[in-house]
Amino acid sequence: MIYILYRLQKDSSCKSAYFKLRFWRTRYFWLPALTFMGVAFMGEAFMGEALLANDFPHRFNLGSIPSPEEISVLDTAIRPDGRGLPPGSGDSAQGLIVYQQQCQACHSEGGKGGLFDPLVSTQPSVIFAFNEAGARPTPTIGNYWPYATTLFDYIRRAMPYNAPGSLSNNQIYAVSAYLLHANGIIPETLTLNASNLAGITMPAFGHFVPDDRLSTPSVK
Ligand code: HEC
Repeated sequence: MIYILYRLQKDSSCKSAYFKLRFWRTRYFWLPALTFMGVAFMGEAFMGEALLANDFPHRFNLGSIPSPEEISVLDTAIRPDGRGLPPGSGDSAQGLIVYQQQCQACHSEGGKGGLFDPLVSTQPSVIFAFNEAGARPTPTIGNYWPYATTLFDYIRRAMPYNAPGSLSNNQIYAVSAYLLHANGIIPETLTLNASNLAGITMPAFGHFVPDDRLSTPSVK
């Protein structure tokens, strides 16, 4: 504003030094300038206070605070290193029965096709070649998943699709063993449990790298 007044005054026809000196000193300059600054300051203070005090609630009063029991039902995450795995065990032969009864309708016999995602690759030797023209396989447990423990976590959390959470821990170990064996990753006779599942090295493991871009929140 001061600059505009300065320009106005500078460009005006009255160019005498006397006028310039007097103009800055008169109430015609100071009164409007001070009034303008005062109104701007008060307006800002008033708006800020109104936003904080009235318009923005500290709580929305939606939902309720979950009990420790409610949290424990959902807090089932299993880490890649196996932390969080529950007790229990199962092998591929037991898993075949679970698979036939609970999974096959959607994932097909042997898991290679079907209504929904294939779980076993039809090209077992092609691992993680998702950028290569021609060979590009469909992602499956065998060619894409980096951790065997994620299989247990995912099945317990989400499968069977029509009844997630309905399988016992033994059934989940067993069907995991069946799927890992079908993908050629473990021998048919291996009984899976909380202490050996994390030790299985998945074929795609080495294809994942830590995200060390400085811009991502995960490394801050
Ligand atoms: C009613 C159909 C249905 C049944 C039954 C079912 N699934 Fe699934 N499954 C799906 C669908 C749909 C998806 C894809 C879900 C998604 O992408 O969110 C899926 C995805 C999966 C995946 C992830 C595949 C991937 O690589 O992304 C696995 C593993 C899996 N199912 C295992 C099982 C197992 C084990 C069972 C039996 C205990 C089972 N499913 C039963 C429908 C089913």
